[in-house]
Amino acid sequence: MACLFLILLPLLHQSLLSLASPGPLQVPTSNRVYGPDGPWQAVSVQLGSPGQNLDLYPGGIFSSNILTVKQCQGTSLDPCGSGGLFNPDNSTTIDDTSIKYDLGSNGTSSLSTDGKPVFAYSNETFVLDQLEFQGVTVTNHSISMYSELQMVYPDGNYSLQVGFLSLGPVFNQTFPAAGDNPSINGSLIPGDLLVQNRIPSNSFGLHIGISAVTPKLDLSLWLGGYDAARIVGPVSTQSTNGYDFAIDLLDIGIGVDHGESPFSYSSQQGLLSDGNSSITSNGIGVTIDPTTPYLYLPNSTCTAIAKDLPVIYNGDKALYTWNTTDPQYNKIITSPTYLSFVFRESTGNLTIKAPFQLLNLTLGAPLMPEDTPYFPCQPTQGFRYSYTLGRAFMQAAFVGVNWATTGESEWFLAQAPGPNTFTEPQSRSFTNSEPAGYGQEWADSWKGYWTAIPSPTASSTMMSKTAAAISSHHLAGGAIAGIAIGGAIAAAIVAGICIWRFRRKKGGNPEAVQSIELDQSNKRIPSALQPIELDISNKHIPSHPLLSHHQGTWSDSPGSEIGGRPSTECPVNELSGESYRSLELPGH
Ligand SMILES: *[C@@H]1O[C@H](CO)[C@@H](O)[C@H](O)[C@H]1NC(C)=O
Ligand SMILES: *[C@@H]1O[C@H](CO)[C@@H](O)[C@H](O)[C@H]1NC(C)=O
Ligand SMILES: *[C@@H]1O[C@H](CO)[C@@H](O)[C@H](O)[C@H]1NC(C)=O
Ligand SMILES: *[C@@H]1O[C@H](CO)[C@@H](O)[C@H](O)[C@H]1NC(C)=O
Ligand SMILES: *[C@@H]1O[C@H](CO)[C@@H](O)[C@H](O)[C@H]1NC(C)=O
Ligand SMILES: *[C@@H]1O[C@H](CO)[C@@H](O)[C@H](O)[C@H]1NC(C)=O
Ligand SMILES: *[C@@H]1O[C@H](CO)[C@@H](O)[C@H](O)[C@H]1NC(C)=O
Ligand SMILES: *[C@@H]1O[C@H](CO)[C@@H](O)[C@H](O)[C@H]1NC(C)=O
Repeated sequence: MACLFLILLPLLHQSLLSLASPGPLQVPTSNRVYGPDGPWQAVSVQLGSPGQNLDLYPGGIFSSNILTVKQCQGTSLDPCGSGGLFNPDNSTTIDDTSIKYDLGSNGTSSLSTDGKPVFAYSNETFVLDQLEFQGVTVTNHSISMYSELQMVYPDGNYSLQVGFLSLGPVFNQTFPAAGDNPSINGSLIPGDLLVQNRIPSNSFGLHIGISAVTPKLDLSLWLGGYDAARIVGPVSTQSTNGYDFAIDLLDIGIGVDHGESPFSYSSQQGLLSDGNSSITSNGIGVTIDPTTPYLYLPNSTCTAIAKDLPVIYNGDKALYTWNTTDPQYNKIITSPTYLSFVFRESTGNLTIKAPFQLLNLTLGAPLMPEDTPYFPCQPTQGFRYSYTLGRAFMQAAFVGVNWATTGESEWFLAQAPGPNTFTEPQSRSFTNSEPAGYGQEWADSWKGYWTAIPSPTASSTMMSKTAAAISSHHLAGGAIAGIAIGGAIAAAIVAGICIWRFRRKKGGNPEAVQSIELDQSNKRIPSALQPIELDISNKHIPSHPLLSHHQGTWSDSPGSEIGGRPSTECPVNELSGESYRSLELPGH
């Protein structure tokens, strides 16, 4: 008896602690990096039962976008589906019959980069299946499966290598059910884990990490919290409209942290509006979107940034390739020279600096016959959600959101460090205060990775790269793994609970656990963002609220289609159901 008690005591104690205050949970980072325009790291999860290993890019909301084994059947392009392909036939837990909502046709979607299609999809199907990682299970996760999901370029469509793990915003996504059955719910990841009391809030913190630079800084995705080591300097707080991370981009500049400038000037501002009188000092509205790879900016802005760079515009891909034989190339991408992005913040401006070293990415197969260093500015035509800063930018930025219970709360943007930073994650819960970093200096976080350009008079010793003490920057597995307590005794006694993860008390937010009722009275939530009741008769409401399905090609003239809506209009606060509907392009 005493023996049993002794066994149980710590179990119960730890269980109670977990119940009272679960800590944030890290989603494991992938062992591999992916292209064809990265390298990008992903996160690793298991989908279905038995679990199929999939590497997915974190990002998007509502259903996760999953590539199936059909993805590579119709293509000779190589590689294909390198992040793993899901075989629904092999899962015993999949529910692919209950949901009666089928977009049916094939189409293109512009996601947040309207105007020109960015993604093309075929046979989107909605299913529910279980998702597992780090010892937690999300049952009936909402999933969009495709027979084909591609990215659209001027010269054609290319299959995506990796699908997307959606990260909110609410608890359930509600679909019409088959026949006369009541509607059916698919669960969404952080909300479900909050209800399970596995994490302290319906939130996440993300740094895409740095894979372009060796040694890399691993991707960091925490649910219910964030890694404070991925925040450098001030944090900007914005309200979310419930489905994207929108903010005003006021300017883009070029600067040099120290040493000589590779350019004829030491710094330059005004690149955002350069050569484009319709961009005022109010800047343009942009969304930060980890499901997209590039910097989707006005053509005039890409032209202005590229003006002094040794790059060549590649019209087939609408991207710039670096001219590696130009002596400026190495100077620019190895020196402390950066692109600065100035955002409007409630209390002033926030500047995020992206060293050009991060913008020396690689276009590989099947996009290019051989690996080609490229600069990730892609000119788009503007539309309502037009301009987007994707993963290329997010290498330099921390993004977090606390969706709260309504899916509509606050999101956070901050400078992320370079690779010379804390090797262990410093996880914190999202509480009612805004996230904060550790006061590390941004320039320090790049120490050892930069070669300053010496002034003409300086001694040549300055040229040698400082060999900083850079050990392994991979997250130590032991640091992130909790103590899993399982086994027959625990399972038998703590009924229904198989694995407890013990975590130190981290000042969680127990109130959040109790207030999981969705606030239906909040009129600012667009109708489609309430746990969405999808209307089968409306072919335009997609699984991913950002998907505005429409037919079209790169050469479409979206400006005229859209009727001249100013692209600087940024729908952060005023979004209503009305304006959500206006996302749909006319004629469909
Ligand atoms: C998965 O399904 C395919 C056919 O759909 C089959 O060939 C394969 O053996 C299955 N794998 C497992 C592990 O069941
Ligand atoms: C998952 O969905 C099925 C219907 O597809 C339902 O019967 C089951 O109760 C759900 N499971 C949970 C844990 O909600
Ligand atoms: C589906 O989810 C919504 C919102 O989370 C909830 O109000 C509704 O009761 C759920 N439906 C079922 C059948 O559980
Ligand atoms: C989500 O849906 C599930 C299954 O329908 C339901 O049991 C649960 O109560 C819903 N959660 C919320 C927060 O409405
Ligand atoms: C100039 O900026 C406006 C507003 O963002 C945009 O619609 C237009 O396409 C830009 N012009 C060029 C040439 O990029
Ligand atoms: C961008 O503008 C240049 C002229 O400034 C033009 O030649 C080019 O076709 C434009 N590119 C796109 C994609 O609109
Ligand atoms: C690349 O740079 C080299 C050296 O400056 C120059 O000679 C060459 O013309 C450039 N190539 C292109 C395609 O611009
Ligand atoms: C630039 O990118 C290429 C691959 O596209 C890579 O081989 C090279 O090492 C990179 N240069 C630097 C300084 O990171």
